[in-house]
Amino acid sequence: MKTIKLGTSSLTASRLAFGCWRIAGTRDNLKSAAEADAEARTAVVAAYEAGYTLFDGADIYGGGRAEEILGATLKSVPGMRERILITSKSGVRHAGSPTPDAPGRYDFSPDYIVKSCEESLKRLGIETIDLYMLHRPDYLGDPHEIAGAFAQLYDAGKVRFFGVSNFRPSLVNALQAACPFPLAVNQVEISLAQLAAFEDGTLDQCLEKNITPMAWSPLGAGLLGDGAKRLLPAQQGYKTDDIVKVLDEIAAARGVSRTVIAFAWLLRHPSKIVPIVGTTNPGRIREAVKATEFELSREEWYRLFIAARGEALP
Ligand SMILES: NC(=O)c1ccc[n+]([C@@H]2O[C@H](COP(=O)([O-])OP(=O)(O)OC[C@H]3O[C@@H](n4cnc5c(N)ncnc54)[C@H](OP(=O)(O)O)[C@@H]3O)[C@@H](O)[C@H]2O)c1
Repeated sequence: MKTIKLGTSSLTASRLAFGCWRIAGTRDNLKSAAEADAEARTAVVAAYEAGYTLFDGADIYGGGRAEEILGATLKSVPGMRERILITSKSGVRHAGSPTPDAPGRYDFSPDYIVKSCEESLKRLGIETIDLYMLHRPDYLGDPHEIAGAFAQLYDAGKVRFFGVSNFRPSLVNALQAACPFPLAVNQVEISLAQLAAFEDGTLDQCLEKNITPMAWSPLGAGLLGDGAKRLLPAQQGYKTDDIVKVLDEIAAARGVSRTVIAFAWLLRHPSKIVPIVGTTNPGRIREAVKATEFELSREEWYRLFIAARGEALP
């Protein structure tokens, strides 16, 4: 697969990332844990064999199970660890921990960031995480304290590069002003079903500062593909019928699938968006790669943009 440099870091990654969130979420009542784990492993190996070298994870995916599955796969596939980049994220805490009355919240306190990273390393069975991100803005996060935690992890050889996720541009600036480590990525939701990053300054800032935008839910969690199994609460009101109609028209004219067009639409942006492919289906994991060899015209890009915004441009 084609590759890309992540921000100003020295990390070279595949043009598409593989998302590990749903690999731990494939369990259902009909499958044993062993069958579900085998399916998850098959998805990870399919991504590796298809040329994905950027694996997106987080401490909370599957309550840590996603990192255990990736770690076990790394152990069983010779040479895989050396050929891929592993990411993780910290800062989201579930309700009920450490006390029963604790609400679901965000936590960028230095002790929590460091502890969470060490636990991720243990689950993954590796020495160093290539790219470590803050998952969602902590309203009580102090940029100087965060920079201290980053320094501790970097000095101990536990993390190579840092990034953020779901950060508004002003908060990226506030953290970067206090932090000597250049932030390599801002991972946000971007798709034809979610255009906010085009209008709220996120992509402008990525262009200006050479920060790589990573797009989560690039298919609107499946709404732009063949349907969604699980939507996040904010995605439940997404209206995608008109977008899918134009995707299908362009797909038919160009002789590719609807999802190839949806990924190619993200890849066309000059900020060099890295879509994070979320399917656990090996065929679909491979299908997405075709988008990296495909370019939409300006006219095709704008037809889709206009369908997504729901009205003609002024
Ligand atoms: N930083 C954050 O806050 C954040 C939040 C959410 C996600 N993420 C990251 O982003 C990654 C991707 O998010 P996502 O899973 O929502 O992405 P997505 O690619 O938009 O959605 C994947 C879902 O779409 C379904 N789907 C339906 N038709 C499909 C088709 N034709 N081709 C491919 N998929 C199809 C998949 O089902 P099948 O598996 O059955 O194919 C899967 O359930 C996650 O794994 C995670 O790493 C980050």
